[in-house]
Amino acid sequence: MASSQHNPIVLTGIKPTGQPHLGNYLGSIRPALELAERHPAYYFVADGHALTTVRDPARLARHSDEVAATWLALGLDPERVVFYRQSAVPEIFELMWILACTTAKGLLNRAHAYKAAVALNQAADRDDDADVQVGLYTYPLLMAADILAMGADLVPVGRDQQQHVEMARDMALGFNRAFGQVLKLPVALIQSEVPTLPGLDGRKMSKSYDNEIPLFGPPEEIRRRVMRIVTDSRSPEEPKDPETCHIFALYRQVAPGAAVAGMRQRYQQGGLGYREAKETLIAALEGRFGQARTRFAALMADTSQLAAVLAQGTAAARYQAAQTLARVRRAVGLARAEAQLSTMMAENAVAGGPAAFASAARSRRGL
Ligand code: TRP
Repeated sequence: MASSQHNPIVLTGIKPTGQPHLGNYLGSIRPALELAERHPAYYFVADGHALTTVRDPARLARHSDEVAATWLALGLDPERVVFYRQSAVPEIFELMWILACTTAKGLLNRAHAYKAAVALNQAADRDDDADVQVGLYTYPLLMAADILAMGADLVPVGRDQQQHVEMARDMALGFNRAFGQVLKLPVALIQSEVPTLPGLDGRKMSKSYDNEIPLFGPPEEIRRRVMRIVTDSRSPEEPKDPETCHIFALYRQVAPGAAVAGMRQRYQQGGLGYREAKETLIAALEGRFGQARTRFAALMADTSQLAAVLAQGTAAARYQAAQTLARVRRAVGLARAEAQLSTMMAENAVAGGPAAFASAARSRRGL
């Protein structure tokens, strides 16, 4: 499987965990959208993974819609990116079982999330596996199936997911060792966190610290939050150091370069108060995300458009996954490989063709 001979396929899963914030945008959404300009891309809502923790069906469904609407509102082009819901592609779950049969249990024992759960139980003097679901334990298997089903080469993720991608690679190697060169070996593309993005209190921006700036919050809420940004007590007249100010650190990420240079100068000269700097930041956030917020609201108000976009992506994703599964089934000796694929292809022909969609999308991009 020489992956060096074609333009690498990128793939990433987005766990639906509620409203995204500025840190998510700068750290993962924007870089992923940029990658999709240059590579064939598969991006999906990882709703199956969210099920390991969510017990509220309405919330799971709403968060899935929100995350899909977020990416579309921020510019994901569904003609370029195969954009789908994980749970709509049954081939992924099928591949997960087959991978489970060639994956050592010891590999899963080493997963950080599982080890953390065990450590908590041990500290509380409980059974190692108390309250640990099999879904948490096999989370890395599902993620490997996501990646391997689509034949992804590059998986852009944050550092916290690096181990999972390495495990996917190990699982592909294990499968190939047993059955021949069938699965492509993926590598993680680590997205470094935007190093200088502080939250309102100066710690790293994160929902768990409640210090984030939501991307699409109501304007009053964004204003209220920006006004909470911690500063020192310098008066408006005093010169200030832009490099240590959280307002400036946020502003430089969202404002055009010339405006950032202007603000830097006014910090250094003195005469710019923190209140005015906050107002300027609020205006920059509105300028940058105002239209996207309107698009997001429209997509959420009538989710039929969302459904149509995801259905188109799902068809293309299923087509790709079905091809992989046909090879995998044949390799291991399970039935239906050819029959399944030809059924899919007949369906595609009738539907006008996700295959046609995928290849048309590729040729539009000149890939
Ligand atoms: N586990 C990832 C996260 O928590 C989401 C995810 C699911 C994913 N499947 C994936 C990421 C496949 C990359 C590739 O963020």
